[in-house]
Amino acid sequence: MSDIILETRDLTKYYGGVHALEGADFTLRKGEHVAIMGDNGAGKSTFVRQITGVEPRTRGEIIFDGKPVHFDGPLDARQAGIEAVFQTLALADDLDVSDNLFLGREKTWANWLGPFRFLDYKAMRADTIAALEKTAVKIPNIRNTIQYMSGGQRQCVAIARTATFHSKLTIMDEPTAALGVQETAQVENIIRTLKEQGEPLILISHNMRQVMDLVDRIIVFRRGRIVANLNKDDTDGQDVVAYITGAKTQPEYAGAA
Ligand SMILES: Nc1ncnc2c1ncn2[C@@H]1O[C@H](COP(=O)(O)OP(=O)(O)O)[C@@H](O)[C@H]1O
Ligand SMILES: [Mg+2]
Repeated sequence: MSDIILETRDLTKYYGGVHALEGADFTLRKGEHVAIMGDNGAGKSTFVRQITGVEPRTRGEIIFDGKPVHFDGPLDARQAGIEAVFQTLALADDLDVSDNLFLGREKTWANWLGPFRFLDYKAMRADTIAALEKTAVKIPNIRNTIQYMSGGQRQCVAIARTATFHSKLTIMDEPTAALGVQETAQVENIIRTLKEQGEPLILISHNMRQVMDLVDRIIVFRRGRIVANLNKDDTDGQDVVAYITGAKTQPEYAGAA
């Protein structure tokens, strides 16, 4: 069995004339935690959207868990085992916290009168409270719909989901950008727990301290292309910044950006 959980080959996305992502060759091993860094507009979120099938890719291949995949969207990707926390949150505005947490993963109880299954709201609400406790976020009423929540509260609902369900791959796009100090620390603890459980992670972050604390490897994007692939132990913040700004390029990516 292969120890690769995700591979992209020549993954590319154009929005009209905008080359948002160009020729991304990327590999993630099972259990590995990788950070993606790069300036705003470098193509990081676009990369995540192609993997999860939010929109059709221009070209390229995505191999997940040994098979070529073409997801129809985040729910489809979730069913295959990819839990993604998007930068622009894909939460349903008119659903409450619990419904959002379980979207696509609803708990049901079978009844013995027939083939029908009913949603087990009580179990889902209890699990929701337990999940939110892990993120330290204060949400006064989990039956409130998402539309009235702050960015940080929404983010924590999405992150709570990754801490609740085991998945084959977790992707977080700037998960702590809108969070306070305490919530950020909790989210970092959730990430450490995923690592201990052997669950692989792609973490998009601008926070150098966080990246250096948490991941095994750093991939740098610049102008839609991967320009560096760095083992955390062989690099430092200054080095990474040099790749982000284009002051430095790895020989194997020369001519990329
Ligand atoms: N839906 C879209 N339509 C047109 N251009 C887009 C769209 N989404 C992203 N872009 C452009 O693609 C480039 C990469 O964006 P993005 O992936 O969001 O960067 P990052 O997440 O690294 O900040 C940017 O130039 C951005 O303006
Ligand atoms: Mg982004």
